[in-house]
Amino acid sequence: MAEMKQAFVTGFPIKHSRSPLIHNYWLQRYGLSGSYKAIENSPEDFPHFAQTLAEQGLRGGNVTIPHKEAAFALCEKRDAAAEAIGAVNTLWIDAENKLNGGNTDAYGFAANLDAQLPDWAQGKSALVLGAGGASRAVIYALLNRGFDKIIVVNRTVERAQALVDHFGSKIEAASWDQAQGFVSSADVIVNTTSLGMSGHGEAEAFPLDFTKAKAGAVATDIVYIPLETPFLAQARQAGLRCVDGLGMLLHQAVPGFEHWFGVRPKVTDALRQIILDDILKR
Ligand code: ATR
Repeated sequence: MAEMKQAFVTGFPIKHSRSPLIHNYWLQRYGLSGSYKAIENSPEDFPHFAQTLAEQGLRGGNVTIPHKEAAFALCEKRDAAAEAIGAVNTLWIDAENKLNGGNTDAYGFAANLDAQLPDWAQGKSALVLGAGGASRAVIYALLNRGFDKIIVVNRTVERAQALVDHFGSKIEAASWDQAQGFVSSADVIVNTTSLGMSGHGEAEAFPLDFTKAKAGAVATDIVYIPLETPFLAQARQAGLRCVDGLGMLLHQAVPGFEHWFGVRPKVTDALRQIILDDILKR
């Protein structure tokens, strides 16, 4: 009998992760014998866990908060996205038994937009709200797609400035007081802040007016609970082309599944519906 392929998602805590639902759906859909489980690891336990995957019978897995930077440091090899973003969300053991790390968040961000609005990257100017880890992945994706003017707005302007220092002269840092002035020149507007996330002011208005946005401008949020955030609701009302954040969660899972189980899975409406049902249920 073929060896059963096993993968995981680890974080601290991890019980809220929807990754098992995604990967187990694909395992079943493609008739593969394998498993994907949530495994909790404290920050103290994570290094030993990550360095003994093969001994535990694990081919690799996903890494989430708070282990993405620790995973980056532990990997023997890293892909270009992980190197540029400084964080690893996907681990796999390669043919030489080395621990490899990748970052699939930038891929997930762009693949979601490619699927929903194939012409989303025709413009060159972007406005990115927020300067945390998610913002790094979004900026890397935008640079890869040819955006050459990316304004990063953040409450703590030093964090936005750190991204300018990291990514270079196509990035510009700004404060929220200046943000409104950039709305009318942006081809793509991305919310990477937790503003409007369930439990973080989802009932409050988003602090920007999109009525003067460019014709055909795209708005996308990386938050997916609620699916329609105040940011997206206001952008949609103003006529922007809107893409919610759930697709990024689904698409970022694709490369990992392919590494561990050998099949490149498809993001479908059926999978999206399973996650939507789970969000409503919890
Ligand atoms: P992630 O890794 O998911 O991006 P993070 O590093 O905690 O998470 O970043 C959250 C982002 O939301 C940051 O840009 C944060 O701004 P600060 O860097 O100034 O903290 C932003 N954010 C969170 N709450 C906010 C609020 N009430 N107003 C404005 N920005 C907020």
